[in-house]
Amino acid sequence: SHTPTTARPTARSLTALREEAAHCRACPLWRNATQTVFGEGRATARIVLIGEQPGDREDLTGKPFVGPAGKLLDRALQAAGVERRATYVTNAVKHFKFEPRGKRRIHKKPNEQEISICQQHWLDNELRLIAPALVVAMGATAARAVFGRATAIGKNRGHVIKEKELAGSVTADVIVTVHPSYLLRVPDEDRDAAFQQFVEDLKLARTYAP
Ligand code: URA
Repeated sequence: SHTPTTARPTARSLTALREEAAHCRACPLWRNATQTVFGEGRATARIVLIGEQPGDREDLTGKPFVGPAGKLLDRALQAAGVERRATYVTNAVKHFKFEPRGKRRIHKKPNEQEISICQQHWLDNELRLIAPALVVAMGATAARAVFGRATAIGKNRGHVIKEKELAGSVTADVIVTVHPSYLLRVPDEDRDAAFQQFVEDLKLARTYAP
């Protein structure tokens, strides 16, 4: 009974938007995924955290950042004194993109078109409805979705980018930082420092948008 989502949604509440997103057919990623993994958290959050796309666990549970990357994010938020419950956590892309390999499903990076379509349909509307004080773009995919173009993480992290007109003409202040999964791939000897730097970015978010 649900028509394909081609026109951009104009929902008036996050609940309505989430319901629309559950039936999204705007790009092919819905076909192999279990379900749409929409954002989760406070509709009145001061901080919106944006990741890349759901992983295996997220695809199965329907919730963002509940797998290994989510556990790392939880630890970093706690170290930074940010209450996850007070934030809104979402992803640039709402369906899990993967390649089957035996019994495993191997994460595949979403392409530019998938990022852009999902941003226009869902992310822009989440940001419009929440109107947070601060957006934290975690990793290259989130940064691309937020700014509408490739944005280097290393050069742009560590400070607040003010009054940025985002890709969807929503205006927000933004912090760019690494994706928590990146920390899982950093060589052992550098991991503590990389984790600490991620925590510093989250502390900046906390003090900027308490
Ligand atoms: N990685 C992401 O970017 N998002 C999730 O929800 C889980 C892993």
